[in-house]
Amino acid sequence: MTEQRHRVFSGARPTGRQHLGNYLGAIRNYVALQDDYDCIYCVVDLHALTTLSDTDKLRTWTYEMTLDWLAAGIDPDRGTILFVQSHVPQVVELHLLLSMVTPLGWLTRLPTFKEKVRQQPDNVNYGLVGYPVLMAADITLYKADTVPVGVDQAPHLEFTREIVRRFNRLFGDVLVEPQAKYTEFTKVLGIDGKQKMSKSLNNHIEIASPPEEIQGRVMQMMTDPARRYRSDPGHPEVCNVYSLHKFFSADEVGQIEHDCRNAGIGCVQCKRKLAQNIADYFAPFRERRAEWDAHPDDVWDVLADGARRASAIAEETITAVKDAIGLPERR
Ligand code: TRP
Repeated sequence: MTEQRHRVFSGARPTGRQHLGNYLGAIRNYVALQDDYDCIYCVVDLHALTTLSDTDKLRTWTYEMTLDWLAAGIDPDRGTILFVQSHVPQVVELHLLLSMVTPLGWLTRLPTFKEKVRQQPDNVNYGLVGYPVLMAADITLYKADTVPVGVDQAPHLEFTREIVRRFNRLFGDVLVEPQAKYTEFTKVLGIDGKQKMSKSLNNHIEIASPPEEIQGRVMQMMTDPARRYRSDPGHPEVCNVYSLHKFFSADEVGQIEHDCRNAGIGCVQCKRKLAQNIADYFAPFRERRAEWDAHPDDVWDVLADGARRASAIAEETITAVKDAIGLPERR
């Protein structure tokens, strides 16, 4: 007897070319989960609208992110469903139905909401308040029982679980209550060495960058500020270059740490090594990416096929939900 695999759902807003933070924080985990779970990964373009005034980039950013995901090893041939949120409109229907059992206070007290209000006080739109409801609709529409989360998304997942319990209490056991899978989500700092790596801060390194570009960005990275001269001993534990070496320079990292502490290696040389290792690590990735990029129609076909498979699941759920609520059937 084959055991039924658990189902993972995760979504990411279309942000275009992905950077090291996206890769180490999420993408490599998405790839690994495919070994043990049925995975559904979604480009959440509707969620993007809650913070985006400028929508002209949505299509290219969806395409670029999908390219990066495919090249990184998210693989529909292994059964993974990869699709665009708005291609399966049932999610909007479920969002509305869930909104009817969502106390407004649950939404406005979320730390993530308060943070957004601080960030965009002039654009506190209705959709923004409902962001977690849309996320709950994503997860439950596709009957996912497992959601990989980092600390930033934990309150949203908790909200989803609460809304599922409430819905099921009111209307019967219809929705699957998802479990959080607290995977180690790595926080990667930007080249400024201070803030989280992010495209909007322009402190990022894109994983699709050619080697020269990686080198250019790495050479700008902040290192240990206490190490002013080449002869000063360094402190790898406070150096962001060193933290990246831990991921990309596995064989040499012990030596690098030793040489830094003893001023045996200078920051410039240390960064050159890192740039080289990052470029080498992503060489096969760049090749696969270029292959996909030579056939953009194939990329859109993957997404269309994902939407078809996702729709089949969505249709089952939405029918059961409407039936449970008691909406009049259409004859
Ligand atoms: N809110 C998530 C983020 O900002 C994106 C997201 C949307 C998501 N729907 C989801 C994540 C469902 C997990 C499950 O990163």
